[in-house]
Amino acid sequence: YFSKTKKNYGFSIFFVYLHVKTFSFFKGMEIKDIAKFIENELNTFEKMYQECKESDIATLSDILSYSLSQKSKKIRPLITLLVAKACGGVSDSTFRSAIIVELLHTASLAHDDVLDNSDLRRNQPTINACWGNNAAILYGDYLFGKSLQLIHTKEDFELLPIYSKIARELPMGELLQKDILEKGDISRQSYFNVIDFKTSSLLGASAYIGAKTAQTDKDYTLYAEEFGRLLGRAFQIKDDILDFAISQTSGKKFGNDIKECKFTLPILDYIEQLEKSVKLNAINFVKQKDKSDEEVLKFVMDIAESGSLKKTEEQVKYYSNKAKEILKHLPENQYREVLEQLVET
Ligand code: IPE
Ligand code: IPE
Ligand code: MG
Ligand code: MG
Ligand code: MG
Repeated sequence: YFSKTKKNYGFSIFFVYLHVKTFSFFKGMEIKDIAKFIENELNTFEKMYQECKESDIATLSDILSYSLSQKSKKIRPLITLLVAKACGGVSDSTFRSAIIVELLHTASLAHDDVLDNSDLRRNQPTINACWGNNAAILYGDYLFGKSLQLIHTKEDFELLPIYSKIARELPMGELLQKDILEKGDISRQSYFNVIDFKTSSLLGASAYIGAKTAQTDKDYTLYAEEFGRLLGRAFQIKDDILDFAISQTSGKKFGNDIKECKFTLPILDYIEQLEKSVKLNAINFVKQKDKSDEEVLKFVMDIAESGSLKKTEEQVKYYSNKAKEILKHLPENQYREVLEQLVET
């Protein structure tokens, strides 16, 4: 697969950096600007979230205080709170469920980093890197249990079916991803099946919960969930492109998906436009178990130079636009506009 031409890698990484950096999704409002619109709600959320850190068990207490203090973008609770605001106003149940979706997300990341052999997240060593795989898995399980502890009113209980759906679909996504990898299945359909389970499910639920717990008599839950699911698709495709960004930008290790043999959408789009003679070599390279950093960088360089990332970026736009379309079914107000802005970030 590799061409014989010698490359200057110092320059190369800069080129990849510039390319990924200039994607349109880096423009517009930032998350912190969006957060300002619901500052009070987010402060209440944060206070409740930090209370989840308490534990008498030394290791657990250490991990909780490390993990829950990290810089998460808090996209899921942001969606829950904003959808509730847009649909009629937040209730006590909205706050508890905003905590629950962030805890479930944090749990899924603790597990994900074990599965992906990742040692860097949010620009810090992962839980598995600091405390080992066993502790990271148990920590994730603890968070799942902790989230159930927050359910106690009738309104909360009505959300059990959606929590059950998330708890089933996140591992289903990871297991499907494993099956696909082992079968050498590189269809787009399979890629989307995986991301619908592992990412769209939780974003869809976060929006659904916002509508369900909002102070209104109208039912916006189906539109809200569809909005979150479409946003989830755009979000995961973006994340898959960010695998090619330097780690200061993504907060994660450069090229980890490629190292882990994942056929993500940017890779599928690249492979699709290759000549028959080099296509198989590229597929085999992604499948190859041990890859050097230099090989991974060279592969990413070739993707960036091929122009195929444009096509992947168009998919992000496509799902973002579809998500914004669905928002039109929600009441027209400032919070709906902020949700539109959130899609653009
Ligand atoms: C990372 O999610 C996992 C994906 C679904 C791509 P986020 O990018 O929301 O993670 P944090 O919480 O902000 O770090
Ligand atoms: C996100 O997939 C799946 C989760 C729901 C945890 P990734 O494996 O791409 O997530 P990152 O890139 O490690 O955050
Ligand atoms: Mg991962
Ligand atoms: Mg993963
Ligand atoms: Mg990723």
